[in-house]
Amino acid sequence: MRFAKQTQPIALLAVLCPCLLICLWEYVDAAASLRLGAVDSQHAPPIPKAGRLARPKSVHQVGVPVAETLAAAPADNPQTPEKIALGEKLFFDGRLSVDGTVACATCHDPARAFTDGRVTSIGVEGRTGQRNSPTILNALCNKTQFWDGRVNTLEEQAELPIINPVEMGQPSLDAAVAKIAPIEEYQEAFRSVFGRPPNGPDLVRAIASYERSQISFDSPFDHFIASDKNAIDDSAKRGWEIFNTRGRCNKCHALSESKRDVTTLTDNDFHNIGIGIIRHNVVALACQAEQVVNSGNKAALDQAAIQTDMSALGRFLITKKDADIAAFKTPDLRNVLVTAPYFHDGSQQTLWDVMDHYNKGDGLQDPDLDEDIQPLALTEFDIDDLVAFLASLTSADYHDLGVKELERQRALSRTSRPQRDTARAFAPKQPEPKPSRNCDQEPKSKDR
Ligand code: HEC
Ligand code: HEC
Repeated sequence: MRFAKQTQPIALLAVLCPCLLICLWEYVDAAASLRLGAVDSQHAPPIPKAGRLARPKSVHQVGVPVAETLAAAPADNPQTPEKIALGEKLFFDGRLSVDGTVACATCHDPARAFTDGRVTSIGVEGRTGQRNSPTILNALCNKTQFWDGRVNTLEEQAELPIINPVEMGQPSLDAAVAKIAPIEEYQEAFRSVFGRPPNGPDLVRAIASYERSQISFDSPFDHFIASDKNAIDDSAKRGWEIFNTRGRCNKCHALSESKRDVTTLTDNDFHNIGIGIIRHNVVALACQAEQVVNSGNKAALDQAAIQTDMSALGRFLITKKDADIAAFKTPDLRNVLVTAPYFHDGSQQTLWDVMDHYNKGDGLQDPDLDEDIQPLALTEFDIDDLVAFLASLTSADYHDLGVKELERQRALSRTSRPQRDTARAFAPKQPEPKPSRNCDQEPKSKDR
C-alpha cells in the first residue's frame, strides 16, 4: 500500500485524537492529488478553478500552424470572445453533471495540461471508465475526437461526456440544459452570444469554441525550429534525429513520412501498436461488438468504448474492419511530458516505459499489430535522447511543471523499468501470426 509509511504514525495519533487523524488524512490525500501520475483516491476530486492556465491562448505563439488553426472553427460556429468566455464557464461548471460534482475540468484540469493524471478517469459517484483522459490542448487540430475517433467535431464530442453514465451521468443533454437554464447569468450570456435562451446545440457550440481557444505551442522545440539553435540541448537534438530515422516514430507521428512534421506530430490515423491486447479476448469481443456497432447509436457506442471490455477494440468499434482491431488514434505529442500516464488505457507510467514498449516491438504475438512496430535496437543513450526530445515539446505555460515531472519520471525509471527487454529490442523481427476471426468459435481464454 502506497501510503503505508504515513498511515502508521497517523494510526497511533488516532488513539489520542481522532479529529487530528481526519485533518492529517485530508492533508495526505490533498498532497497525493497534487502529484502527477497515478492518483489513489476513488472519488472525483473537487472541480478545479479556472485560473491563468485556463485562459484563451494567442494564435501568435511560436510554432502555431496559423492557417490550420484559424480554419479549425466550422462556418456555423465562428470564434468570438463572448462565446469563448461562455464556453469557459460551462467547462468548469459541475451543474452540467447529474449530481453537481463533475465538470469537464474534473478530467481536463488546466493545471495538469487539461488531463487528470489518473490511469483512467473518475466521474460521478466515483465511477471509473476504461480510458485515459487525453488533453484538450490543441484538440482543435484533431481530425477526429476520442482515442478511437468515434466523432469528428468538438461540438459532437461535447455532448457525450455529459450523458455518459460514468462521466457526468445526465439522462440527456436537455436535462443538463434544464439545470443551467434558470440561472440568470447563463440566460443573459446565451441571449447575448446566440440571441436565444440556453439550449443543447448552443451549449455544445460554446464549449467547442472554448476548446478551440486552447492552442499550445511555444515550446523549446518550436524556438529551435524557428532558428534559436540553443533552445534545446544536444540530447534533445539527437532525439529529434532518432525520432525521424531509426526510431521509426515518424512512420506514424508525422503528417507524412517524406517530410519532417513540426506541428502536432501525428498522421491523424489509427494503429494497433500492441497495447493491452491478448488475441483470444479481442476476437471474442469483436464478435460481441458487432451488435453495438450495427445499432449505429452514438450514445451506446460511447458507453461500449468507455465502460465495457469492448474498449480494447479501439477503432474496430467504429469501422468493423478486422484491420482496425485494437487500433487507436496516433496522439498529438505536444506537452506529452506533462500528460502522464500514457496510452489509451493509461497503462504506462513514464516516457521511459513508453520507449521500452517501442524498443522491444511489443505485441508481436498479435496478428493485427501494425507492421511498423518492430524491435528498434535503441541503446539507453538513444532512449534518454528520445525522452529529452519529447520533453522539449512542453509549452512555456508548463515549463515549471515539466521540470518537476521530468525529475519524477526519471527517478521512477531508475528503480522501475517494467517494460524493458533489451534482448528482445536487439533481436531480429519475428514473423507475425496470420489474422483469423471466426465468431462461431468459442474463445479459448478470456484472460487479458
Ligand atoms: C470523468 C472524466 C471526464 C469528463 C467529466 C469529461 N471528459 Fe473528456 N475525456 C475523458 C476521457 C477518458 C476521454 C477519452 C475517451 C475515449 O477516447 O474513449 C475524453 C476525451 C475527450 C476529448 C477528445 C480529445 C482527443 O484527443 O481525442 C475531448 C475534446 C474532451 N474529452 C472534452 C470534454 C468536454 C468538453 C467535457 C465536458 C462536457 C469532458 N470532456 C468531460 C474524460 C472526461
Ligand atoms: C505504428 C505507428 C506508431 C509508431 C511507429 C510510433 N507510434 Fe507512438 N503512438 C501511436 C499510437 C497509435 C499511439 C496510441 C496507442 C494507444 O494508446 O493504444 C501512440 C502513443 C504514443 C505515446 C503516448 C502518448 C499519450 O498521450 O499517451 C508516445 C509518447 C509516443 N507514442 C511516442 C512515440 C515515439 C517516441 C515513437 C518512436 C520510438 C513512436 N511513438 C512510434 C502510433 C505510433
